[in-house]
Amino acid sequence: MTQYIIALDQGTTSSRAIIFDKKGSVISIGQKEHEQIMPRAGWVEHDPIEIRDNMREVIGIALGRANLTRHDIAAIGITNQRETAVVWDKNTGIPVYNAIVWQDTRTQPIVDRLAGDEGVDRFKDIVGLPLATYFSGTKIVWILENVEGAREKAEAGDLIFGTTDSWVLWNLTGGPDGGVHATDVTNASRTLFMDLKTLQWREDILAEFGVPLSMLPEIRSSSEVYGEARDTSLLRETPVAGILGDQQAATFGQAAFDPGESKNTYGTGNFLIFQTGTEIVKSENGLLTTVGYKLGDGPAHYALEGSIAVTGSLVQWLRDQLGIISSAPEVEELAAKVEDNGGVYFVPAFSGLFAPYWRPDARGAIVGLTRYANRNHIARAALEATAFQTREVLDAVNADSGVDLAELKVDGGMTANDTLMQFQADVLGVEVVRPVVAETTALGAAYAAGLAVGFWNDLDELRANWQEDKRWSPTGDTEERERQLRLWKKAVTKSMDWVDDDVR
Ligand SMILES: Nc1ncnc2c1ncn2[C@@H]1O[C@H](COP(=O)(O)OP(=O)(O)OP(=O)(O)O)[C@@H](O)[C@H]1O
Ligand SMILES: [Mg+2]
Repeated sequence: MTQYIIALDQGTTSSRAIIFDKKGSVISIGQKEHEQIMPRAGWVEHDPIEIRDNMREVIGIALGRANLTRHDIAAIGITNQRETAVVWDKNTGIPVYNAIVWQDTRTQPIVDRLAGDEGVDRFKDIVGLPLATYFSGTKIVWILENVEGAREKAEAGDLIFGTTDSWVLWNLTGGPDGGVHATDVTNASRTLFMDLKTLQWREDILAEFGVPLSMLPEIRSSSEVYGEARDTSLLRETPVAGILGDQQAATFGQAAFDPGESKNTYGTGNFLIFQTGTEIVKSENGLLTTVGYKLGDGPAHYALEGSIAVTGSLVQWLRDQLGIISSAPEVEELAAKVEDNGGVYFVPAFSGLFAPYWRPDARGAIVGLTRYANRNHIARAALEATAFQTREVLDAVNADSGVDLAELKVDGGMTANDTLMQFQADVLGVEVVRPVVAETTALGAAYAAGLAVGFWNDLDELRANWQEDKRWSPTGDTEERERQLRLWKKAVTKSMDWVDDDVR
């Protein structure tokens, strides 16, 4: 009897396989980190082969830990870091270059060229996004222009592109031997190539970018059977039945399906998603318009998104680059040693600033330093940066939607940090709520797959699975909160205008 769903979560820092039961409870997890390859300032890459092999391994670990086999698994769901681009040879399965990660800023000259006189919002009405290094489209262009022979092979139809959902799906379903080359609407909505209305690739935009249509995966819904795992997989013959980009998956896993429902995920970066239903809402305040989900033949559901590039990765930076902590949770101990930030503000504009500013010319800045400041203040400022950035995104969501959000559903690794979550509630002035299942990203992908094969019947069944774990209520006085926010915004202005012709 089949009684479980397995979700494959191909994230920025690690790949996970998580097995869920019908209640949405985690049965077992396999997880493996992969290398963050940073050959130059602003460049971030992953090895797709390492990711493929890690994914195979974690599937084995998850099955083994739960003492299950493929016969116990009803379906496979896939979720992924969204804009990270892989280009590979469909005849050999070998990538022509490392995956270029969403945080990578090398394509800024390509963005500038495409924006030309018309500006970065040139395609925004069609695709919901400004031209920015963040999205996968410009990364494909870089590979075609910089990898020897790539353009010719692409024109000949030998190279194909995918975000890591497509890479995992293609390898899982046969690779060069009949692998399914597809993606879902949520991932497609992050390329700069998909028309939000028709959910089809725009050939005119592809032509502007110089990307052959033959490279692109087929766009499918988020919940349907795409194919079966190949005969050499541990999961052989199991249907792959759900794909959602990680942030949309987390929203789905939080059971935030309806217009007005939202969530904020605290992972490598922070991503607040606000569902707008079947209506395409254009932001006046620096948010992206994106697809939330599409179930089978049903209509597409859209969302507004506030993407923040650097939050949890700033904690990793304190650990790996600055060396003031040896593990992520230690940041809380350091921050707790001081009463306040000592006047220090840390703007982690490592990839420029994303929402709501979209300023590629910004770079990281620590301001307000005095002789008094120590590493504890810097740790505290780093945590506070996550909360301040979220406040600015929430303000944008409130402004765009015309209603103030009453509470914020949260998830992701950083929500384990009590100090941060309390500070977040204080800075927002709203309740912050975390569900029991913290692995909402994987859960959302499992839900999408389970719905497609009838493991779950409808969204109400999924809503009933949602349970509150912890709630943080705002404390402290509003005046102090607004004073700090004002200083934060001043700090943000100090990070801007840094990149010019002289800065590489
Ligand atoms: N106690 C903590 N305090 C602050 N930050 C933390 C804590 N624990 C983990 N983090 C941060 O949370 C992030 C990991 O969160 P999570 O596991 O949700 O991300 P992820 O899903 O692995 O990210 P991705 O999908 O992008 O790979 C890391 O960047 C880490 O620095
Ligand atoms: Mg993740």
